[in-house]
Amino acid sequence: MKTICFKNYQELSAYTAAEIADAIKEKPSLLLCMASGHTPALTAELLVKKLLEEEIDYSQITFLGLDEWVGLPRENEGSCYHFFTTKLFEPLQLKPSQYFLFDAMSGDLKAECTKMDAVIDSNGGIDLMLVGIGMNGHIGFNEPGTSFTALSHVIELDETTKSVGQKYFKEKTALHQGITIGLGHLINAKKVFLKADGKRKADVIKKR
Ligand code: GLP
Repeated sequence: MKTICFKNYQELSAYTAAEIADAIKEKPSLLLCMASGHTPALTAELLVKKLLEEEIDYSQITFLGLDEWVGLPRENEGSCYHFFTTKLFEPLQLKPSQYFLFDAMSGDLKAECTKMDAVIDSNGGIDLMLVGIGMNGHIGFNEPGTSFTALSHVIELDETTKSVGQKYFKEKTALHQGITIGLGHLINAKKVFLKADGKRKADVIKKR
């Protein structure tokens, strides 16, 4: 594991956007998994810019959304679906066959997990993962204590996750469960970037 400290959010984001672009150049059929949230927002913007300006061929990549709030409609601006659609899929005009996101409104969440695991397995594991870290140390919605072998699953959210998560929503929103790609997939991924931005994440990073 390597730790890199950047001067600011801009530099952190530019570095990771360049790493993703390079990975796509190296493996055009990259299986890329990204978190949503505040930390990767600028990375997504810079990545789109780079791919379009440098005319990098991303027509063969497959994209996976790391997690989603269970029971939240996709059109809610705080949903991970909304983040990925507006920040990546629309500007890049990705084909729907190129991305897989959990349907957190599905009546069969187990089937959603099975579908996600099947996509990952059929591609031989995730090539590149870009994850953030929650204030309680969660990765995706793998709350503290989650097994390192966990595959995609549904989880009861921690109180910290429910309260910190309000920052994504215009109105107070009831959050109970999350659906997430598990740590087992992260452990098996070929490359993982775990990004943290700002002083408020310093303690949790030290503990990790
Ligand atoms: C959220 C998400 C994670 C995200 C993390 C940090 O609850 N489930 O995937 O990485 O918390 O988010 P942020 O980057 O907004 O601090």
